[in-house]
Amino acid sequence: MTYSTVPINPFYASRLRRASHVRPPEPDRPTYVRLPRAPITGSPVPHLTSLYHFDRAGEYGDRKWPGNCGGNLIKDLLTYFKPQGLVFDPMSGSGTCRDVCQELGLSCIAWDMHQGQDACNPNDFPAAETFDFIWVHPPYWRQKLYSEDPRDLSRSPTLEHFLRRYGQFIRNCKAALKPGGKFAILMGDYSDREAGYVPLVYHTKRLAFAAGLTQHCTDIIRFSHGNSSSKKIYRSSFIPGLHDVCMIFERD
Ligand SMILES: C[S@@+](CC[C@H](N)C(=O)[O-])C[C@H]1O[C@@H](n2cnc3c(N)ncnc32)[C@H](O)[C@@H]1O
Repeated sequence: MTYSTVPINPFYASRLRRASHVRPPEPDRPTYVRLPRAPITGSPVPHLTSLYHFDRAGEYGDRKWPGNCGGNLIKDLLTYFKPQGLVFDPMSGSGTCRDVCQELGLSCIAWDMHQGQDACNPNDFPAAETFDFIWVHPPYWRQKLYSEDPRDLSRSPTLEHFLRRYGQFIRNCKAALKPGGKFAILMGDYSDREAGYVPLVYHTKRLAFAAGLTQHCTDIIRFSHGNSSSKKIYRSSFIPGLHDVCMIFERD
């Protein structure tokens, strides 16, 4: 005897033909999504919203430097906040912030472990209340290793060690900010082989609030265009993170 489902329940039959819930692999090209409309404001940088989606890095710093972050977000923040005095980047890598400041005609001090300065050491830090604006893009713990130097934050052997030194670094920055100064930190969460998922954005806020800083405005979710991991193929199943977060704190 043969059975046909079609005359009995056509909806059932069409359910059988419904596409599987497993989506086919995404094509190897970007997907375009519609962003929410932003209100009109008095901002001098109207395209600077909580969603930072521009894919051009700009001609700043060196794109080949591991962890290079592109300069356009820094440029937009500096154009928005208009610091009157000194800008500081204590983990400057290839000098992206310094190059942006040069273009905008702002005075900037930029350092890095590679020049010997340890930003986690309060004795290495510039005097209190020196800067109007501090930009920093620290290591996401050991996601990328930047040097062999044990003082390098990316060489912290445990999460606890990293957070202790990162907290000291945030306190150093707070002390070096002028009252009313702004402190922008670009940070991302990270999944560590041993420690599991490490919510570094949460830890950054926790440590900044504990240092006595306040959050000045919305988080800026920066879409991670050009990430090397985006081109990889993984066997394991996980939800890929495609952004990092720029947090802007203020010293009251
Ligand atoms: C994400 S990279 C910054 C990249 C930079 N924003 C750019 O666009 O080129 C982090 C930097 O922090 C530096 N670094 C790590 N630990 C440090 C420390 N204790 N003191 C100063 N710099 C440190 C590393 O050498 C690295 O260049």
